[in-house]
Amino acid sequence: MKITYFGHAAFKFVTNQATLIIDPFLNNGLTGKKVEDLLDTEYILLTHGHADHIGSTPEIADKTGATIVANAEIATYFSGMGYKTHSMHIGGKAHFKFGNVKMTPALHGSSILIDGKLAEGGNPCGFLVMADGLKIYHAGDTGLSMEMHLLEEYEIDLAILPIGGNFTMDIEDAVKAVKIIKPKRVMPMHYDTFPVIQANPEYFKKQVELLGLDVEVVLLSTDQSMEL
Ligand code: NI
Ligand code: MN
Repeated sequence: MKITYFGHAAFKFVTNQATLIIDPFLNNGLTGKKVEDLLDTEYILLTHGHADHIGSTPEIADKTGATIVANAEIATYFSGMGYKTHSMHIGGKAHFKFGNVKMTPALHGSSILIDGKLAEGGNPCGFLVMADGLKIYHAGDTGLSMEMHLLEEYEIDLAILPIGGNFTMDIEDAVKAVKIIKPKRVMPMHYDTFPVIQANPEYFKKQVELLGLDVEVVLLSTDQSMEL
């Protein structure tokens, strides 16, 4: 699988069977990627309704016909506008061309801002993506939670965790999450986009290494890719 980081919480996974993107916030001031660079997108996974996660979803779906995978409230919002969607909810697992997705709990909000008014966006989530024999956990926007204990038994190959604080876990709590989840690899996200979520990924790496666990810290700069 080829994984590309677009900054913030935005990722692209190219699996053997299909290409998916998660939370495609392209106007994040970090990535150089545009909608036109993502025309191979077949699925768009959304963790919650905030604008820094829905991002360019409508524009990408307009150009690609991609299926939007989200909680029932967000999926209904998009299907009402004519988009192809797959509605699911927390604790549920669904099968797609590339593999399986399990929706995991997140502690956060999920309202959708439409024409200056807040609309109901259901509960926020994370995703456990199972494809190409790999298990990848994208936590979404979340605080540290007891629910993360349930993830340990999956033997996650890569956990993608927010470290920016203020709206989500900070480095201290993300390190605690690593201790709980015990993934083979961990990658930080959701930092340095806005002044209130400045964080030093190198410091996160050092703190994880101090745990003495067998966890590799993967640091991708914006628009950088890795093979897993
Ligand atoms: Ni959010
Ligand atoms: Mn966010």
